[in-house]
Amino acid sequence: MNAPSTTMDATVFHRAVEAAIRAPSMHNTQPWRFRVRDGGLDVLADPSRTLPVADPHGWALRIAGGAAIFNARLAFAVAGRPAQVRLRPDATEPDLLARLVPGPARPATPDEIALHAAVSRRHSNRRPFDPQPVPAEVRAALIAAAAAEGAWLDLLIGRGPLALVAEVVRAADTVLVRDARYRDELTAWSRTAEADDGVSLAAGGPSPEPQDLLAMRDFGGPTRAPGRDFESDPLVAVLSTAGDTVHDQLVAGQALQRILLTATVPGLASSMLSQPIEVPAARERLRGGLSRRGCPQMVLRIGFGQPGFPTPRRPVTEVLDA
Ligand SMILES: Cc1cc2nc3c(=O)[nH]c(=O)nc-3n(C[C@H](O)[C@H](O)[C@H](O)COP(=O)(O)O)c2cc1C
Repeated sequence: MNAPSTTMDATVFHRAVEAAIRAPSMHNTQPWRFRVRDGGLDVLADPSRTLPVADPHGWALRIAGGAAIFNARLAFAVAGRPAQVRLRPDATEPDLLARLVPGPARPATPDEIALHAAVSRRHSNRRPFDPQPVPAEVRAALIAAAAAEGAWLDLLIGRGPLALVAEVVRAADTVLVRDARYRDELTAWSRTAEADDGVSLAAGGPSPEPQDLLAMRDFGGPTRAPGRDFESDPLVAVLSTAGDTVHDQLVAGQALQRILLTATVPGLASSMLSQPIEVPAARERLRGGLSRRGCPQMVLRIGFGQPGFPTPRRPVTEVLDA
């Protein structure tokens, strides 16, 4: 049985939610809620904040939920009470993504401390990166981060694989933007005025141009200054899991966040491209192109760049039911 909630646990839960809400979510919808119950912290999906067109089956919601769970785990760890985590602990409550209960006390590891410190520094950066290559030891750490969470990360090596993935991203983006409902939904979350969700013009990056290798999602940003093209040899990676169940997607979300934070620690920037995951035929081509079993869950671009633009979050009081 869990010990009854103490003042320390209440502080841990609050800090865990503060960290969790810094997680990435598609279009910054922040589709989560949190609940303190039975000496633990519940992470729930918020069905009122889904994307019916871009995410009809809840894949993106669960990736975001998994990322939020990972941040919460880090907060428990740095508080000296690493969480015991159960994914989807109650079949009768499908919105309940995870329950985190403070486990036996132990000091946080240096890795946990560094990753936790990176939570507030991580932002999606959709601007061109510097040409400087990502060092080999960081590449190895990114691969290890995925493996530590039960997923894997393929770093694309060479022109052929990069060209193939770029072509799949572009084809998927073309399919998506052809749909007026998709464009309307994207516009609805692209913010031109102050808001506590959605993607601002500054954070959304420059508007895509035909010569770009990677078709970035168009959040209606400004055209770029002449000569400020994207890096010609980006580090692109594909995160995959063994299957594509709800459990696999929650694992993928945790792995995604661990990778993003692992990149943030040594000062790298990152952004995500999920168009090929949203279009089933593109996802299948991506899977085939990687010559792997398993299911691609996210395409990532990682490199050295200027600091990204933070996106806003709804306050803890709005998402935590204590
Ligand atoms: C499931 C998922 C899919 C995403 N897809 C894209 C994408 O295709 N293009 C993009 O630029 N950002 C994408 N993002 C990043 C979100 O737009 C971003 O996390 C959100 O706006 C919050 O900003 P932040 O990452 O700076 O905290 C995705 C994030 C998640 C979790």
